[in-house]
Amino acid sequence: MSASIHIALIIGSLRKESINRKFAEFIASQMPDNVDIKEVHIADLPLYNQDYDDTTIDSYERVRQQLKDADAVLIVTPEHNRTMPAALKNVVDIGSRPYTKSVWEHKKVAVVTASPGSFGGINSGMDVRKSMQMLSAEVMIDPEIYLSRATDSLNEDGSVSERTQKFLQGFVTEFIKFAGQSSRD
Ligand SMILES: Cc1cc2nc3c(=O)[nH]c(=O)nc-3n(C[C@H](O)[C@H](O)[C@H](O)COP(=O)(O)O)c2cc1C
Repeated sequence: MSASIHIALIIGSLRKESINRKFAEFIASQMPDNVDIKEVHIADLPLYNQDYDDTTIDSYERVRQQLKDADAVLIVTPEHNRTMPAALKNVVDIGSRPYTKSVWEHKKVAVVTASPGSFGGINSGMDVRKSMQMLSAEVMIDPEIYLSRATDSLNEDGSVSERTQKFLQGFVTEFIKFAGQSSRD
């Protein structure tokens, strides 16, 4: 079956052993056959500078095109110092410019955060939502997912615990409904 829903996945952590990557990979593995999900790699993106708006940077063009082509964007991210990690903010900024050419306008965006701490990265998730709202993206409201004490939701081999698998499967169902809806529905 050829995919009818295209999802761009951004993982806010650059860390090799990222817990957010483990949850993101589980979520990706649960997508139905009609969904194609591809990671938008952000580690190689030069720090955004408005001076670059008049030039062509291949990695910028790559991520802008991937985001443009997607029906929805799924962001799975940690919290760094009570906000989103710099690498994630960088791709948000890159996608937002040049002025009037933002890829975020009317884009469907869902956010999942995970932290070993008890707040689950909620401040990071809220700040992503704040930027997306300003950029006129269509942010998924319900359910909101902030995985607290998230290391407890991983088994020793790095797989996601059964309880959290069920919880995330519920999210996937709602996310696919959201991603598949036309903005005018
Ligand atoms: C620079 C830095 C700042 C952090 N700040 C927070 C924070 O504000 N809130 C939080 O819950 N965890 C914070 N942490 C801990 C991260 O939640 C933890 O390292 C987590 O494993 C990061 O996600 P990752 O494994 O996907 O990289 C911070 C970690 C780093 C490296």
